[in-house]
Amino acid sequence: MSAVRFLTGITTSGTPHLGNYVGSIRPAVAASLRPGVESYYFLADYHALIKIDEPARIQRSTLEIAASWLAAGLDPERVVFYRQSDVPEIPELTWFLTCVTGKGVLNRAHAYKASVDKNLAADLDPDAEVTAGLFMYPVLMGADILMFNAHHVPVGRDQIQHIEMARDMAHSFNHRYGEHFVPPLAAIEESVATLPGLDGRKMSKSYDNTIPLFAPRPELKKLIAGIKTDSRAPGEAKSTEGSALFQIYQAFASAEETAAFAQDFANGIAWGEAKDRLFERIDREIAPMRARYEWLMTHPQEVEAMLHAGAAKARAVATPFMARLRQAVGLRSLGTTSASGPAKAAKVAAASFKQYREKDGQFYFKLVDAKGTLLLQSLGFASPKEAGVAIAQIKQDGLAALDALRGQLAEGHANPDALQAALDSMASEQA
Ligand code: TRP
Repeated sequence: MSAVRFLTGITTSGTPHLGNYVGSIRPAVAASLRPGVESYYFLADYHALIKIDEPARIQRSTLEIAASWLAAGLDPERVVFYRQSDVPEIPELTWFLTCVTGKGVLNRAHAYKASVDKNLAADLDPDAEVTAGLFMYPVLMGADILMFNAHHVPVGRDQIQHIEMARDMAHSFNHRYGEHFVPPLAAIEESVATLPGLDGRKMSKSYDNTIPLFAPRPELKKLIAGIKTDSRAPGEAKSTEGSALFQIYQAFASAEETAAFAQDFANGIAWGEAKDRLFERIDREIAPMRARYEWLMTHPQEVEAMLHAGAAKARAVATPFMARLRQAVGLRSLGTTSASGPAKAAKVAAASFKQYREKDGQFYFKLVDAKGTLLLQSLGFASPKEAGVAIAQIKQDGLAALDALRGQLAEGHANPDALQAALDSMASEQA
């Protein structure tokens, strides 16, 4: 049927580093270029508020991350690239999901539990300094994913639990209100899921051991020179096992290059030489992107415009979907339905599009419900085919299509809830 949807976000709380690139940005961009794939990539700035209360840092990081993804080859024409906070349906959906998520499930979330454990170890109140935002983090993330019914979510291993929670939320909601959500799956790049940092632990801003993705060449060289190694002298055989240097190299090199590098280790390459080789290998991949990054960083308005266009695409999906979810949970216009669910279903089930020709020779369509009430009226089309295309567009995109078709529809059609209910009923009749 429709394309496979990938979706992923980066929290706008820092400067992208090589670990983000290898673990998230690069595989995401590669996936977005595959045919038959629909990709959603976004800047998780609501998530950033959980960790950061410095407005300027949030803004700076949002620009840096947007510029990094674009520089790494993300094509905003081809994918949906947006900023989370430009889509107000996401916090709205967060509330819906909050109401179907067990509190006990959230008690077990790793990020929250880690804070609690730290407090307990320090003899503090378990929830000392823990905000409700941190506690709710997985629900906001669930809303990010379910809003667009993503099938696959490329993330690091530390995020797998969150994807599983999103699956549970999808099931809980579907169980109560009918099949609305696709339960998502985590997509992990097995070979390069995590990159070690300067000190050998996972590269992460929280360990302060990162190499910024677009550090200028001299800085990149200096940082790589600081990667921790053992004290083996030049000429002594070196172990690739547990070597951060080797693992980072592997993440950038082909299988043949990696095998040759392993041979050099066995032959006793000097650490200084190994670091130069790593530097040149990374810079070969990064340098062209760095130029684009630097241009974007000095043209923030261009980035802003791309994000606005992306948000419009995202909302073309989110707005009608959210309208459907509101219907489903019972947040409905009081005038459109009888009190009992099934009676209403039967009534709207017979809604249908009628196509016809008028005396003016033009082709028209209208949408009427069972009782013959007019819900939507088109203006004249030159051919039946054009009228058919407009109908198909409405069937596919729902209310979002109405805006696009504005010049071709008569003013003053029925209220959005009634229209949406009629479209839903036709869709479920077809299914
Ligand atoms: N929590 C993710 C991280 O810190 C970022 C994120 C927010 C995300 N929402 C998401 C990732 C939805 C994937 C899907 O890395």
